[in-house]
Amino acid sequence: MAGVNRRISAASARSHTRKSKQKTAFTLPPGLLSTIFVLLVVGFLAWAYQAIQPPPAKMCGSMGGPSVTAPRVKLKDGRHLAYKENGVSKDKANNKIVYVHGFDSCRNDVMFFSQELADELGIYLVSFDRAGYGESDPNPRQTLNSTALDIEELADQLGFGSKFYVVGFSLGGQLIWTCLKYIPHRLAGATLIAPAINYWWPRLPANLSKEAFSQLLLQDQWTLRVAHNVPWLTYWWNTQKWFPSLSLIANNKPEVYSSADLELVPHLIARRTYVEQVRQQGEFESLHRDLMIGFSSWEFNPMDLKNTFPNKEGSVHLWQGDEDLIVPATLQRYIAKKLPWIHYHELTGAGHLFPYAGSVSDAILKALLHGV
Ligand SMILES: *[C@@H]1O[C@H](CO)[C@@H](O)[C@H](O)[C@H]1NC(C)=O
Ligand SMILES: *[C@@H]1O[C@H](CO)[C@@H](O)[C@H](O)[C@H]1NC(C)=O
Repeated sequence: MAGVNRRISAASARSHTRKSKQKTAFTLPPGLLSTIFVLLVVGFLAWAYQAIQPPPAKMCGSMGGPSVTAPRVKLKDGRHLAYKENGVSKDKANNKIVYVHGFDSCRNDVMFFSQELADELGIYLVSFDRAGYGESDPNPRQTLNSTALDIEELADQLGFGSKFYVVGFSLGGQLIWTCLKYIPHRLAGATLIAPAINYWWPRLPANLSKEAFSQLLLQDQWTLRVAHNVPWLTYWWNTQKWFPSLSLIANNKPEVYSSADLELVPHLIARRTYVEQVRQQGEFESLHRDLMIGFSSWEFNPMDLKNTFPNKEGSVHLWQGDEDLIVPATLQRYIAKKLPWIHYHELTGAGHLFPYAGSVSDAILKALLHGV
């Protein structure tokens, strides 16, 4: 009985406090509550705006920004592109190549080719920091065609002549499609190494595309969905801490490396000396813009491209590892089949990082320069 009484009195005490609270609330001037509500909404919107708005880039050579250490050319629109010369010196060059690096990389991330091959074939290979990476100025007007046009201007300023070769790896390999589309008249030949695939390219068979997409890590699927569907949220998505973002950005040891890739990782030890440079101007102008363009709705479909070299005056090559966990071989095979003028080379047992196995890179360059 005593217990019941206590419960009753506790309940009436609760209802009493509730009533008195209600009374206090009603004694507030009604305008105050709506003012508080409006302030909360404004505060939230201000916070949300801050959270989705990328900070300004820390431009190289600006006050307080990183310093410029590499040679750079100045483009027509005033931006600078930093570059690195590889292989033989320019005066001994028989074959001039522009090399396009991949995601989260820079001009120093060049495929490993031997000095013997460079000497034998007179290979002068210039790699450059894509806009916003390393020491190249960001390009806030970056579009699908702007990197191809940057490559053309870089080659012109370095005196490459009317025709030159282009080689790109991974997301840089995907950009070689844009070179074939926008500057085909400038190309002597082109090589795409494990080029990234945009799952939203039209005419990829839905079943193949769905299957390949579903094999990506869940966090990578969501990052690509955000970049494609709500690109203006890309900065926020990749910097927020509630959900995991792209594994290649967030993890030190990405799970997307195959066993063959993991064996090659120790070869990348020299990266430690320059890795700080890669994102030094900010992740938005480098990494996030890459995702927003690479996975946007493209204004052309690579599978619709016409043969760049109908008279066999040059050749186009595509190399792909069959155990690549970043770029699915199933889709790459399909694309290569649609473009019979492309020389498709599939490497058994290779993952994504095979251009860092020296002998493979020599074979890749030989095939391009000999056209086989
Ligand atoms: C590059 O793309 C932009 C935007 O899509 C377009 O306005 C421009 O004409 C294109 N330039 C060339 C040379 O294709
Ligand atoms: C995808 O669909 C096509 C026909 O539309 C079929 O020929 C092919 O075998 C399918 N591939 C897979 C992996 O299901």
